[in-house]
Amino acid sequence: MTNKYIYFIANWKMFGNLRTLGSLNKVISFQKKFRRNKFKLIYCPPATLLSPLSDKLKSTSIEVGAQNCHESHNYGANTGQINSNMIKAVGAKYVILGHSENRKLGENDSLINLKIKSSLKSGLKIIFCIGETLSQKRKKMTKKILSRQINRGLKTIRNKKNILIAYEPVWAIGSGLIPKETEILEIVQFIKKHVKGSKVLYGGSVNTKNINILKSINSVDGFLIGGASQNSKNFIDIIKKTFN
Ligand code: PGA
Repeated sequence: MTNKYIYFIANWKMFGNLRTLGSLNKVISFQKKFRRNKFKLIYCPPATLLSPLSDKLKSTSIEVGAQNCHESHNYGANTGQINSNMIKAVGAKYVILGHSENRKLGENDSLINLKIKSSLKSGLKIIFCIGETLSQKRKKMTKKILSRQINRGLKTIRNKKNILIAYEPVWAIGSGLIPKETEILEIVQFIKKHVKGSKVLYGGSVNTKNINILKSINSVDGFLIGGASQNSKNFIDIIKKTFN
């Protein structure tokens, strides 16, 4: 894995304020020192921090993404929402869509499909999350569920080069549990076969301990990291261990 270009995406979820951004100075200087390695760092903070974080990272190669957006890229009467053009305008380049925490709130595959399309139109790159629940896994439905999420989520989207797929088993998110290496390998290869040429990330309880196992799974192109990315030292540790 270490010869490949690896993505490390920090999903801060509902975490962080202006003061928290100070802790990224460590990551910025680490990133400068480790230029020889091929990796891309992307921070996805809450919407309140998209603009200040984009400003802070302007002269670095670390990029910024949002965690969700409305399905229309136009302005509208949608209290509490932001759209992909607004995200782009503050300097962010990515948006996470289809995260299970938003699917749980009622987002379905066709809504996610509309969000992906309007975000691509705005010129954003997509971090498209898919994953099975524990009961689906127990019923051996994982591949069926993932195929459905992919087919519906990416419906009528021909050019998929700006879409990264993040395989995040719902039961692994925030639980400290991860699938077996062989399971991740099988699923990532399955996704790559389904979406030809795609980059596939793994997400769900990635931490400083299990990264040694996860990094050895050859076909994984990177990691979407929640809890462990909120602490800069842990985030740096995960990156260092990936390349050690
Ligand atoms: P976690 O979250 O690393 O805290 O499990 C990952 C995610 O939800 O993207």
